[in-house]
Amino acid sequence: MESTRGFILCLFLLVTISSSSAKVEEENPEFWRSQARETLQSALNRKINTNVAKNVVLFLGDGMGITTLTAARILKGQLQNQTGEETVMTMDTFPNVGLAKTYSVDFQIPDSAATATAYLCGVKTNINVIGVNAAARNGACKTQKGNEVTSILKWAKDAGKSVGIVTTTRVQHATPATSYAHSASRKWYSDADMPDSAKLDGCTDISSQLIRNIDIDVIIGGGRKYMTPRGTKDPEYPRDFSVRGKRKDGRNLITEWQKLKTGKVAHYVWNRTEFDAVNPETTDYLMALFEPGDLRFEVDRDPSMDPSIVETTEKAIRILQKNPKGFFLLVEGGRIDQAHHDGRAFMALHEAVAFDYAIARALELTKEHETLTIATADHSHTITHNGYPFRGQSILGKSPLWALDFRPYTTLMYGNGPGHKLINGSRPDIRDVNTSKITAVI
Ligand SMILES: *[C@@H]1O[C@H](CO)[C@@H](O)[C@H](O)[C@H]1NC(C)=O
Ligand SMILES: *[C@@H]1O[C@H](CO)[C@@H](O)[C@H](O)[C@H]1NC(C)=O
Ligand SMILES: *[C@@H]1O[C@H](CO)[C@@H](O)[C@H](O)[C@H]1NC(C)=O
Ligand SMILES: *[C@@H]1O[C@H](CO)[C@@H](O)[C@H](O)[C@H]1NC(C)=O
Repeated sequence: MESTRGFILCLFLLVTISSSSAKVEEENPEFWRSQARETLQSALNRKINTNVAKNVVLFLGDGMGITTLTAARILKGQLQNQTGEETVMTMDTFPNVGLAKTYSVDFQIPDSAATATAYLCGVKTNINVIGVNAAARNGACKTQKGNEVTSILKWAKDAGKSVGIVTTTRVQHATPATSYAHSASRKWYSDADMPDSAKLDGCTDISSQLIRNIDIDVIIGGGRKYMTPRGTKDPEYPRDFSVRGKRKDGRNLITEWQKLKTGKVAHYVWNRTEFDAVNPETTDYLMALFEPGDLRFEVDRDPSMDPSIVETTEKAIRILQKNPKGFFLLVEGGRIDQAHHDGRAFMALHEAVAFDYAIARALELTKEHETLTIATADHSHTITHNGYPFRGQSILGKSPLWALDFRPYTTLMYGNGPGHKLINGSRPDIRDVNTSKITAVI
């Protein structure tokens, strides 16, 4: 690496400066050894739980790879005025850890549609398709028929359990949609998003499948605009033309849903006041759509209008857990991924921290002996965590070191996309560079 000398020079500085900021108790070997003993002892004391799970809560951090977890852990501690690196997230306390290979049938790096089909339906498939096997082709309605695969949401419902989806994106987005829909394209949110040929060939949009395919007890997220006829004013943003109803077929799926639930206690809400008024003890069905599209990022959320993922998770569990046969709940932290796509580490990490608090709330509301709780991700992102920030330095900060160009760099960095380093306003031109060469610098 070209900049090795630069690093070595500055590493010397780093050691000199940072030695003063060490925590006194950490200088004592017993501090580390007793921690190790306690960790080992609690692992040895743990009784293997062989019960059949009555309830399953699946927490899916979209795009929440290992680097995101590390950075979010540090941020979570730093938001509590700790140094952060030593913070224990709720996810960190789970007794079993595993890793999965996330490739899709056609791509080395998958998208959220292919991965959701893998972990919800148990079948690897192609990129961009949801709830169909790999014989179906992206965007080709004709290849969809006969290739549908069902999800754990349906299996749970068929077993007499209550089922729910909670997300921070629109409820028609790839992750939640795969639990209830079959679609050759993840983008067919409403009929207006489908080509005429797909409609002629008999395919239906994801929103219409949301209310028909499976009798879902709790639906919480965003996505109102895909549910109402074209031009319908949004209740929260009546003057904003861009968020008006999208549907060309003139259907209002919200009122259709309400009619389908006649005779049951079913609430449709779109704001915090109405959400808070929903009594989980007396509610059979809840559909809560807080935004026309995806929800706002947690740090941009207006708490007077929209509840947090902690609150939506709690409401869902309280409604679902009335069923003596148990429940299945999918909770998606869906905007970790979206923030990463935009190169916004600040947003992505705050989303991940909120997601971890939702997991903590779920553990408080359920019992371990009858509930399987899983926290996982579908794929990673190009975010990297660079050397050598000091202990306790802001995870969103800059290196105390300079590279050989005498410039600092950010602790977190993206390998591509808008967060990638630009040279003179554009990415380096590597068209004539053979990156497979042993001498290649990439
Ligand atoms: C952290 O410190 C800041 C500044 O002193 C203070 O405003 C904030 O309340 C503290 N937060 C916590 C969680 O202690
Ligand atoms: C919340 O929704 C209800 C039902 O549509 C409406 O009457 C109420 O005004 C809304 N609240 C706010 C603060 O917009
Ligand atoms: C950036 O632009 C300046 C001025 O046009 C030029 O001298 C320099 O070589 C450029 N750097 C790179 C890496 O292209
Ligand atoms: C790139 O380098 C590799 C390894 O030396 C070599 O096998 C390959 O043929 C090169 N590719 C091109 C396009 O020159």
